[in-house]
Amino acid sequence: MKWNNLNLEWNSHIENEAEKQELAKKVASKVNDGDVIGFGSGSTSYIAIKEIAKKINNEKLNILAIPTSYEIKLLCDRLNIPTVTIMEYKPDWSFDGADEYNDKNWMIKGRGAAMFKEKLNIVSSNKVYILADNTKYVDRLGKNHSIPVECFPEAIKFVKKELEKLGANECNIRTGRGKDGPIITENNNLILDAKFNEINEKLEKDIKLIPGVIESGLFIGYNNVEILK
Ligand code: 5RP
Repeated sequence: MKWNNLNLEWNSHIENEAEKQELAKKVASKVNDGDVIGFGSGSTSYIAIKEIAKKINNEKLNILAIPTSYEIKLLCDRLNIPTVTIMEYKPDWSFDGADEYNDKNWMIKGRGAAMFKEKLNIVSSNKVYILADNTKYVDRLGKNHSIPVECFPEAIKFVKKELEKLGANECNIRTGRGKDGPIITENNNLILDAKFNEINEKLEKDIKLIPGVIESGLFIGYNNVEILK
């Protein structure tokens, strides 16, 4: 017996909705019967998934989705898109949004705290489409966003100290709507938002080397990434 679906709509205003809708059409046109597709998180991915669902219905396609967050898993359930995990399937390709990208396609992601699973999809895919509206390009990565760093809770103070050694000039534990105290990620961890004035090509690896860091939202040198504008 199936549960009734939850009607979880996007819960805040979507910036640049018309542009995101155009990007959704572009990515939906890439969906083929039989594809296993990594589904990113965020409002752009949310709009794209609704567009993909329309195509699946119209053309009677069979695809499998690997969602990167509970909200995207629930959306897939509601739209009757079957989901699997990365434990069982390798994505043929993936799509996702971004918070910032620069002219080398380096990115900051993770405003939605989903960067751990997003990175797993991205590194597992031969091809990744990043859906980026015109607000996402920056001439200097880190201009508008801190780097989100997911950490094992007991390591939070150590990780903060190490991020400051790497050059973070502000490093705040993420708190947010709907919960008192720190945000707990889907992997039961905490997030430090670390502001860097300079991001060099070693920084993603340097952050990852800190004991207690699960993953960061910094993406440097992923050659499988194509920015869809
Ligand atoms: C979530 C993400 C999102 O892809 C990123 O924040 C972009 O979001 P939006 O499409 O709402 O602008 O990394 O963890």
